Amino acid sequence: MRLLVKIGGAQLETGPGRAAFARAVAQTRAAGHELIVVHGGGNQIRALGRRLGLEERYHEGLRITDADTAEVVLMVLGGSVNRRVVWALEQAGVRAVGLSGADGSSFLATPHRPGGRDLGFVGKLERVRPELVELLLGGGYVPVLATTAPAPGPTGDDAPFYNVNADMAAGPLGNALGADVLLFLTDVPGVLDGGGALLRELSPADCETLIASGVIAGGMRPKIDAALAALRAAPDTTVKIAPAAGEGAIVAALDPAVGTAFARQETTHG
Ligand SMILES: Nc1ncnc2c1ncn2[C@@H]1O[C@H](COP(=O)(O)OP(=O)(O)OP(=O)(O)O)[C@@H](O)[C@H]1O
Ligand SMILES: [Mg+2]
Repeated sequence: MRLLVKIGGAQLETGPGRAAFARAVAQTRAAGHELIVVHGGGNQIRALGRRLGLEERYHEGLRITDADTAEVVLMVLGGSVNRRVVWALEQAGVRAVGLSGADGSSFLATPHRPGGRDLGFVGKLERVRPELVELLLGGGYVPVLATTAPAPGPTGDDAPFYNVNADMAAGPLGNALGADVLLFLTDVPGVLDGGGALLRELSPADCETLIASGVIAGGMRPKIDAALAALRAAPDTTVKIAPAAGEGAIVAALDPAVGTAFARQETTHG
């Protein structure tokens, strides 16, 4: 199978965290699956932004991104976080190559304006060009994608790269790259209800209710939107939000008993 795995930045902050993720990837490769990794880096971007004295504002889990922040996103997401993930994979015996949207024009961005709101250089994917990723997969490499991407523009323009939320990018990337499984691995066991219990399966209507009641908030919001959009675009894809913890996290996430799965239609329980 071909898996696209989105891993949260929080899991990649420490050497041991990256090593555990790398072992999970190695195990998945050994089981015969192809993998594409898309990573976040919210905490890492926040940390450097604070050191540089940048202001922080969020809208529905998305960081409002001025030109200076976009530069930090390019440096941190496309630089330090991405290269460290690649190196952790290499150390685990997994051949890996890091890419931003600019590499091979693999993905380009366009401004994301939810409800007409201007969030600055917050982008969504405009165009995915699978050639380079396919070439790497064909050569046995794991492509590691940092979701910072230029917008199509005139040669020589000075425009910042867009900050594309990694969750929002994972869906369109998975769809364009023909992923059979789309996994959002994060720091919680899945989507939790108001009492903190794991919700095993969610329909679009369930999600709407949980968002309206405020149970789904913050960084979970873009993940849910992305999961539902991916399922609409490619209904046969397995889409899950699952825990990143543990060396066997990716293979474990394929187990129906683990994490939250998304159903296209209402499910009849019982
Ligand atoms: N209903 C919910 N169930 C579970 N987690 C929720 C819920 N609502 C909000 N959250 C929050 O969403 C967080 C996960 O999103 P977050 O953006 O922090 O992580 P990530 O996307 O894995 O990392 P990154 O943003 O760095 O890529 C959880 O840690 C939790 O605090
Ligand atoms: Mg997030």
